[in-house]
Amino acid sequence: MIRKHYQKLVAAIYDPFMKSLEKVLTEHRRGLLQKTSGIVLEVGAGTGVNFPLYPKDVEVFAIEPSVPMYKRAVKAAENYPNIRVFNIGIEAVKNYPELPKTFDFVTSMLVLCTVPDPQQAAGVYRDVLKSNGQLLVLEHIHATGRFYGKIQNLVNPVWRPLTDGCNLNRRQDWILKKAGFNPLFEDYFSLGTDWYKAVMVTEN
Ligand SMILES: C[S@@+](CC[C@H](N)C(=O)[O-])C[C@H]1O[C@@H](n2cnc3c(N)ncnc32)[C@H](O)[C@@H]1O
Repeated sequence: MIRKHYQKLVAAIYDPFMKSLEKVLTEHRRGLLQKTSGIVLEVGAGTGVNFPLYPKDVEVFAIEPSVPMYKRAVKAAENYPNIRVFNIGIEAVKNYPELPKTFDFVTSMLVLCTVPDPQQAAGVYRDVLKSNGQLLVLEHIHATGRFYGKIQNLVNPVWRPLTDGCNLNRRQDWILKKAGFNPLFEDYFSLGTDWYKAVMVTEN
Protein backbone atom coordinates (compact mmCIF):
# COMPACT_ATOMS: atom_id res chain seq x y z
CA MET A 1 0.00 0.00 0.00
CA ILE A 2 2.74 2.46 1.01
CA ARG A 3 4.82 1.36 -2.00
CA LYS A 4 1.85 1.95 -4.31
CA HIS A 5 1.51 5.56 -3.10
CA TYR A 6 5.24 6.04 -3.22
CA GLN A 7 5.44 4.82 -6.84
CA LYS A 8 2.55 7.13 -7.69
CA LEU A 9 4.48 10.07 -6.27
CA VAL A 10 7.67 9.10 -8.13
CA ALA A 11 5.69 8.85 -11.40
CA ALA A 12 4.05 12.25 -10.77
CA ILE A 13 7.30 14.11 -10.13
CA TYR A 14 9.44 12.29 -12.72
CA ASP A 15 8.88 14.60 -15.71
CA PRO A 16 9.19 17.89 -13.72
CA PHE A 17 12.33 16.51 -12.02
CA MET A 18 13.90 15.61 -15.38
CA LYS A 19 12.90 18.81 -17.18
CA SER A 20 16.23 20.66 -16.98
CA LEU A 21 18.25 17.50 -17.75
CA GLU A 22 16.07 16.78 -20.77
CA LYS A 23 17.41 19.95 -22.45
CA VAL A 24 20.57 17.91 -23.01
CA LEU A 25 19.21 14.37 -22.95
CA THR A 26 16.47 14.79 -25.56
CA GLU A 27 18.96 15.29 -28.39
CA HIS A 28 20.78 12.10 -27.38
CA ARG A 29 17.48 10.24 -27.16
CA ARG A 30 16.42 11.52 -30.59
CA GLY A 31 19.78 10.66 -32.18
CA LEU A 32 19.48 7.07 -31.00
CA LEU A 33 15.77 6.52 -31.58
CA GLN A 34 15.88 7.87 -35.14
CA LYS A 35 18.10 4.86 -35.95
CA THR A 36 15.29 2.41 -35.18
CA SER A 37 13.33 0.44 -37.76
CA GLY A 38 11.21 -2.69 -37.78
CA ILE A 39 10.20 -4.04 -34.36
CA VAL A 40 11.49 -2.37 -31.18
CA LEU A 41 11.44 -3.36 -27.51
CA GLU A 42 11.60 -0.29 -25.25
CA VAL A 43 12.59 -1.33 -21.73
CA GLY A 44 11.31 0.68 -18.73
CA ALA A 45 9.37 3.26 -20.73
CA GLY A 46 8.61 5.37 -17.64
CA THR A 47 6.17 8.15 -18.52
CA GLY A 48 6.67 7.58 -22.25
CA VAL A 49 9.16 10.39 -22.78
CA ASN A 50 10.71 8.60 -25.78
CA PHE A 51 7.48 7.96 -27.66
CA PRO A 52 7.41 11.16 -29.77
CA LEU A 53 11.00 10.53 -30.88
CA TYR A 54 10.52 7.23 -32.74
CA PRO A 55 10.04 7.16 -36.52
CA LYS A 56 6.32 6.74 -37.18
CA ASP A 57 6.74 3.50 -39.11
CA VAL A 58 8.46 1.44 -36.39
CA GLU A 59 6.43 -0.93 -34.24
CA VAL A 60 7.27 -0.30 -30.59
CA PHE A 61 6.53 -2.73 -27.76
CA ALA A 62 7.20 -0.75 -24.58
CA ILE A 63 7.36 -2.43 -21.16
CA GLU A 64 7.01 -0.74 -17.79
CA PRO A 65 6.57 -2.60 -14.45
CA SER A 66 5.51 0.31 -12.20
CA VAL A 67 1.71 0.68 -12.45
CA PRO A 68 1.66 4.51 -12.07
CA MET A 69 4.42 4.89 -14.67
CA TYR A 70 2.66 2.36 -16.93
CA LYS A 71 -0.60 4.35 -16.76
CA ARG A 72 1.23 7.51 -17.79
CA ALA A 73 2.98 5.65 -20.61
CA VAL A 74 -0.35 4.26 -21.86
CA LYS A 75 -1.71 7.82 -21.96
CA ALA A 76 1.39 9.07 -23.76
CA ALA A 77 1.00 6.27 -26.34
CA GLU A 78 -2.57 7.33 -27.20
CA ASN A 79 -1.21 9.60 -29.94
CA TYR A 80 1.01 6.90 -31.40
CA PRO A 81 -0.82 3.93 -32.96
CA ASN A 82 2.55 2.24 -33.60
CA ILE A 83 3.32 2.03 -29.83
CA ARG A 84 1.86 -0.51 -27.38
CA VAL A 85 2.66 -0.55 -23.67
CA PHE A 86 2.76 -3.61 -21.36
CA ASN A 87 2.80 -3.63 -17.57
CA ILE A 88 5.75 -6.02 -17.12
CA GLY A 89 9.47 -5.87 -16.28
CA ILE A 90 12.36 -7.14 -18.37
CA GLU A 91 12.41 -10.40 -16.40
CA ALA A 92 9.01 -11.40 -17.89
CA VAL A 93 9.66 -10.50 -21.52
CA LYS A 94 10.69 -13.90 -22.87
CA ASN A 95 7.58 -15.65 -21.56
CA TYR A 96 5.03 -12.97 -22.37
CA PRO A 97 2.74 -14.27 -25.12
CA GLU A 98 1.70 -10.85 -26.45
CA LEU A 99 5.28 -9.87 -27.26
CA PRO A 100 7.28 -10.95 -30.31
CA LYS A 101 10.03 -13.48 -29.60
CA THR A 102 12.74 -11.29 -31.16
CA PHE A 103 13.28 -7.61 -31.95
CA ASP A 104 15.30 -5.56 -34.43
CA PHE A 105 16.18 -3.05 -31.70
CA VAL A 106 16.13 -2.90 -27.91
CA THR A 107 16.18 0.58 -26.39
CA SER A 108 17.41 1.02 -22.80
CA MET A 109 17.35 4.56 -21.46
CA LEU A 110 18.00 5.33 -17.77
CA VAL A 111 16.84 1.83 -16.90
CA LEU A 112 19.85 -0.35 -16.07
CA CYS A 113 20.49 1.93 -13.06
CA THR A 114 17.17 0.71 -11.63
CA VAL A 115 16.58 -2.90 -12.64
CA PRO A 116 17.26 -5.24 -9.69
CA ASP A 117 19.71 -7.40 -11.66
CA PRO A 118 21.40 -5.56 -14.56
CA GLN A 119 23.46 -8.61 -15.60
CA GLN A 120 20.31 -10.65 -15.97
CA ALA A 121 18.63 -7.80 -17.87
CA ALA A 122 21.62 -7.59 -20.25
CA GLY A 123 21.24 -11.33 -20.87
CA VAL A 124 17.58 -10.86 -21.78
CA TYR A 125 18.52 -7.98 -24.13
CA ARG A 126 20.86 -10.39 -25.94
CA ASP A 127 18.36 -13.21 -26.04
CA VAL A 128 15.54 -11.16 -27.56
CA LEU A 129 17.61 -9.28 -30.14
CA LYS A 130 17.74 -10.68 -33.65
CA SER A 131 21.22 -11.82 -34.66
CA ASN A 132 21.87 -8.54 -36.51
CA GLY A 133 19.81 -6.49 -34.04
CA GLN A 134 21.09 -3.46 -32.15
CA LEU A 135 20.86 -2.31 -28.56
CA LEU A 136 20.55 1.48 -28.17
CA VAL A 137 21.63 2.74 -24.77
CA LEU A 138 21.47 6.00 -22.86
CA GLU A 139 22.34 5.40 -19.23
CA HIS A 140 23.87 7.42 -16.40
CA ILE A 141 26.93 5.75 -14.99
CA HIS A 142 29.18 6.06 -11.97
CA ALA A 143 31.24 9.26 -12.18
CA THR A 144 34.74 8.57 -13.40
CA GLY A 145 36.32 11.34 -11.30
CA ARG A 146 37.37 10.12 -7.86
CA PHE A 147 35.71 12.97 -5.97
CA TYR A 148 32.23 12.67 -7.53
CA GLY A 149 32.56 8.91 -7.65
CA LYS A 150 33.03 8.86 -3.88
CA ILE A 151 30.16 11.31 -3.34
CA GLN A 152 27.89 9.06 -5.40
CA ASN A 153 28.93 6.04 -3.33
CA LEU A 154 28.10 7.94 -0.15
CA VAL A 155 24.78 9.31 -1.40
CA ASN A 156 23.59 6.09 -3.06
CA PRO A 157 22.08 4.38 0.04
CA VAL A 158 19.82 7.43 0.53
CA TRP A 159 19.22 8.13 -3.17
CA ARG A 160 18.15 4.59 -4.08
CA PRO A 161 15.09 4.37 -1.78
CA LEU A 162 14.07 7.93 -2.69
CA THR A 163 14.08 7.17 -6.42
CA ASP A 164 12.38 3.76 -6.51
CA GLY A 165 15.63 1.86 -6.92
CA CYS A 166 17.91 4.08 -9.05
CA ASN A 167 21.64 3.49 -8.38
CA LEU A 168 24.17 6.26 -8.99
CA ASN A 169 27.22 4.03 -8.99
CA ARG A 170 26.70 1.34 -11.59
CA ARG A 171 28.85 0.86 -14.69
CA GLN A 172 26.22 -0.24 -17.17
CA ASP A 173 28.76 0.10 -20.01
CA TRP A 174 30.99 -2.50 -18.35
CA ILE A 175 28.02 -4.76 -17.61
CA LEU A 176 26.91 -4.69 -21.26
CA LYS A 177 30.40 -5.36 -22.59
CA LYS A 178 30.75 -8.25 -20.14
CA ALA A 179 27.46 -9.62 -21.44
CA GLY A 180 29.06 -9.74 -24.90
CA PHE A 181 27.75 -6.54 -26.49
CA ASN A 182 30.22 -5.08 -28.92
CA PRO A 183 29.99 -1.25 -29.20
CA LEU A 184 29.71 0.07 -32.76
CA PHE A 185 29.72 3.55 -31.28
CA GLU A 186 30.10 4.91 -27.77
CA ASP A 187 30.08 8.39 -26.35
CA TYR A 188 30.46 9.62 -22.80
CA PHE A 189 29.38 13.05 -21.68
CA SER A 190 28.99 14.98 -18.46
CA LEU A 191 26.10 17.15 -17.37
CA GLY A 192 28.47 19.58 -15.69
CA THR A 193 28.89 17.91 -12.34
CA ASP A 194 30.73 14.82 -13.50
CA TRP A 195 27.48 12.88 -13.70
CA TYR A 196 28.53 10.88 -16.67
CA LYS A 197 26.07 9.57 -19.20
CA ALA A 198 26.95 6.82 -21.59
CA VAL A 199 25.51 6.45 -25.05
CA MET A 200 26.13 3.19 -26.84
CA VAL A 201 25.00 1.51 -30.01
CA THR A 202 25.91 -2.15 -29.91
CA GLU A 203 25.68 -5.17 -32.13
CA ASN A 204 24.31 -8.36 -30.74
C1 LIG B 1 14.61 6.44 -14.35
S1 LIG B 1 13.19 5.70 -15.05
C2 LIG B 1 13.53 5.93 -16.79
C3 LIG B 1 12.28 6.02 -17.60
C4 LIG B 1 12.51 6.26 -19.09
N1 LIG B 1 13.17 5.13 -19.72
C5 LIG B 1 13.28 7.51 -19.36
O1 LIG B 1 14.25 7.45 -20.10
O2 LIG B 1 12.90 8.56 -18.85
C6 LIG B 1 13.53 3.97 -14.82
C7 LIG B 1 12.37 3.11 -15.25
O3 LIG B 1 12.77 1.74 -15.23
C8 LIG B 1 11.67 1.01 -14.77
N2 LIG B 1 12.11 -0.30 -14.27
C9 LIG B 1 12.47 -0.64 -13.02
N3 LIG B 1 12.72 -1.96 -12.92
C10 LIG B 1 12.51 -2.47 -14.16
C11 LIG B 1 12.56 -3.79 -14.70
N4 LIG B 1 12.91 -4.83 -13.95
N5 LIG B 1 12.24 -3.96 -16.01
C12 LIG B 1 11.90 -2.91 -16.77
N6 LIG B 1 11.82 -1.64 -16.31
C13 LIG B 1 12.12 -1.41 -15.03
C14 LIG B 1 11.08 1.88 -13.69
O4 LIG B 1 9.77 1.51 -13.33
C15 LIG B 1 11.19 3.25 -14.31
O5 LIG B 1 10.06 3.61 -15.05
